[in-house]
Amino acid sequence: MTSNPLEPPQAEPLPDDLAGALTAARAELDHIGSPVVYLPSTPSTNDVAAQLAEAGGADGTTVVADAQTSGRGRLGRTWFSPAGAGLYVSVIIRPGAPGGPQGARESRTDARVPPPSRLTLLAGVSLGEAVRSSTGLPAEIKWPNDLVFCGKKLAGILAEGALQQGVLEYVILGIGINVRAVSYPPDIAHRASSLEAELGRPVDRGLLLATLLVNLGRARRALREDAVHSWFDRWRALSPSAAGALVEWRAPDGVRRGRTAGLDHDGALLVRSDRGVERVSSGEIIWL
Ligand code: BTN
Repeated sequence: MTSNPLEPPQAEPLPDDLAGALTAARAELDHIGSPVVYLPSTPSTNDVAAQLAEAGGADGTTVVADAQTSGRGRLGRTWFSPAGAGLYVSVIIRPGAPGGPQGARESRTDARVPPPSRLTLLAGVSLGEAVRSSTGLPAEIKWPNDLVFCGKKLAGILAEGALQQGVLEYVILGIGINVRAVSYPPDIAHRASSLEAELGRPVDRGLLLATLLVNLGRARRALREDAVHSWFDRWRALSPSAAGALVEWRAPDGVRRGRTAGLDHDGALLVRSDRGVERVSSGEIIWL
């Protein structure tokens, strides 16, 4: 029997709460979440999604896990992903694709690169608006796309791109959302929280997942049609700290300090310092 590389052997049917919500949202879902591959546990959904992309997985293919044993975050950090506590989701985005299935690949990608910041910014808006509309929690974005509430991080996005022969072949958008209240490891306990801990009531994670995928579909369309202007405005509305907040960041010539001054057209953070307005496009911002 030959195995299908687009169906990992550990895949299982989606749990009822997630399946029901995705079915209810079917008319709005576009092709993001088509298909959804569900794994009870996996090292990292980003790795599974990358494997599927290498095997020809289509734009919009989505991997969801109940637990990750090696979940990772930005800047080489670990993403705490215990079973039943969160949503761990990765979506294949193929910048050049009209949305249909891709042919099986003959060779592997030749480099992993940071993805375009516009894509990650629109993913941040999709996440922030999904959390707000499906749970009512007025969470905010901290650049580039940490979702926070009262200074604690609730969700984050790890976007990983893959180049082949100098062309961006696909991006894996990995999204982790802390849903249920759990005990966090000591090193992150002071800065991490969950939606349910902040709301003090249960969250419908199916509705949250469906809303997120609907929003990502809209973001995908806006990028394709180069209609991202309103998304930048929505990002600003979700991110009051992007204007006027005191920050530090590591520049090539040392640690710099200034006040946030909005975004540029590529999604880089602008910071007003004693040298004028500087552009920060990667790395870590320390919010003072
Ligand atoms: C961050 O550092 O803020 C980004 C966190 C991203 C975590 C998600 S969970 C699903 C996907 N799989 C991973 O290993 N990481 C991302």
